[in-house]
Amino acid sequence: MKLDLSGKRAIVTGGGRGLCRCIAEALHDSGAEVVLVGSSEATKKTAEEMQAAGPAVHAVTGNLGKKNEIAGIFTQCMELLGGRVDILVNGAGTQFRCDAVDFPADEWERILALNLSAVFYLSQMAGKEMIRNGYGKIINIASMTSFFGSSRIPAYTASKAGVAQLTKALSNEWASHGINVNAIAPGYMETRLTGDIKEKNPEQYKEITSRIPMGRWGTGEDLKGLAVFLASDASAYISGAVIPVDGGYLGK
Ligand SMILES: NC(=O)c1ccc[n+]([C@@H]2O[C@H](COP(=O)([O-])OP(=O)(O)OC[C@H]3O[C@@H](n4cnc5c(N)ncnc54)[C@H](O)[C@@H]3O)[C@@H](O)[C@H]2O)c1
Repeated sequence: MKLDLSGKRAIVTGGGRGLCRCIAEALHDSGAEVVLVGSSEATKKTAEEMQAAGPAVHAVTGNLGKKNEIAGIFTQCMELLGGRVDILVNGAGTQFRCDAVDFPADEWERILALNLSAVFYLSQMAGKEMIRNGYGKIINIASMTSFFGSSRIPAYTASKAGVAQLTKALSNEWASHGINVNAIAPGYMETRLTGDIKEKNPEQYKEITSRIPMGRWGTGEDLKGLAVFLASDASAYISGAVIPVDGGYLGK
């Protein structure tokens, strides 16, 4: 079966919790050895929990929002994976809500650095290895804001629009080297990142929910199937795609 990931080696940024933990679990359950990259020590705990069965699960902690840390993080991942990477999931991301008119410059830079620049630098590092191997799968995590503007999250919106276009730009250069570069665009998902909407703005939460044709917010479980598909040879002829997993939101 082409969905089998046995023998594949994967790096999943943001894999310590939330949506990308689910993606990492799905890749691991399908046979891949995985390195989780995250900013907190919880990343190590997640790796230990996932290690109960199957191929090795490793953890690397560091700040991908700091350009001078990214090469070191990537080197550690490569050492843990025995010098080969087949799958890169660029999932680490962050958020800050504020009216655009008051949006702090340091938050703008912090969000762009992690959500967009780190995706490029890490893809560049992994891309070099993948081009050498003639094989690779890069999966970026985009967003609904890759498609529409939203409000009060200008840096996040700009970063995720950038991720969608970067996905296409890298695909154009690397598809001929056997590398598929795609993005998953989750809809409104229940995680720590969006928890503040439910708690601080229940009216907005209700309004969003009523606009989702499936009538519910998504979870990490909803991303598992597409993540395995895009990481596997079943998606061999798909590249440069930004695929929504949104309960029908964009179709409305
Ligand atoms: N939750 C949603 O509704 C939603 C919707 C669309 C897209 N997304 C995207 O999905 C991805 C995961 O989001 P989530 O909701 O699971 O968020 P989350 O806050 O639960 O998880 C974020 C992850 O990123 C890691 N991280 C944060 N800052 C980091 C840094 N500086 N360096 C390294 N790692 C860092 C954290 O360790 C954590 O594992 C993000 O890219 C997010 O933008 C989320």
